[in-house]
Amino acid sequence: MQLFLDGSDIDKIRKYSDFGVIDGVTTNPSIILKSGKNMIEVISELASVVSGSVSAEVSALDSEKMVREGMKLSEIAKNVTVKLPITWDGLRACNTLSKKGISVNMTLCFSSSQALLAAKAGAEYVSPFIGRLDDLNLEGIDLISDIKLIYSHYKFSTKILAASIRTTNHVKQCARLGADVATIPLDVFEKLIKHPLTESGLNQFTADWEKTGQSII
Ligand code: E4P
Repeated sequence: MQLFLDGSDIDKIRKYSDFGVIDGVTTNPSIILKSGKNMIEVISELASVVSGSVSAEVSALDSEKMVREGMKLSEIAKNVTVKLPITWDGLRACNTLSKKGISVNMTLCFSSSQALLAAKAGAEYVSPFIGRLDDLNLEGIDLISDIKLIYSHYKFSTKILAASIRTTNHVKQCARLGADVATIPLDVFEKLIKHPLTESGLNQFTADWEKTGQSII
């Protein structure tokens, strides 16, 4: 499973890219607002730091403007993926942009029928939002398994990009179900490495090693 960071914190994204564990980045209008920066500059910087896909979302609601915005965003860098909402206009724009060879991520996916349409329209990615379904007392993770099953029947190449991830358990569940990508907020991402037994075990090994009086380098 590829790991994307869901955010725009350039220092942290650069840091984890250097560890070889970040495959891409996703943004949305709320993330751009929070950054307080110009969107074109943010996307350009992210795309230069990460070699994989960087999702940049259009603001237009009608397909013709979505295509124009999408073309402009895709010109920022080769690895920009144009993010479009799953609406009829979004699907039409997806079809147009995909036929031009532009990578599209269909976002705000809350049902498997929407995911089916996204795949038919040629999207490279579809983004089912797990956490927001959980917020409604639904099993968000079930959407990942449903889409996985449907896509496998018809061998769609659209990648399942699990989004709206709130917990490390969400990440584990997505990996178990075979999601192609999980886009993870920074706070959850940083928790992926943590385990109390790793910490206590390392403390013990370090203390015992010091008692040996040896050194390797
Ligand atoms: C996905 O691409 C979205 O940016 C994101 O995952 C939304 O998550 P949220 O529901 O926590 O806002």
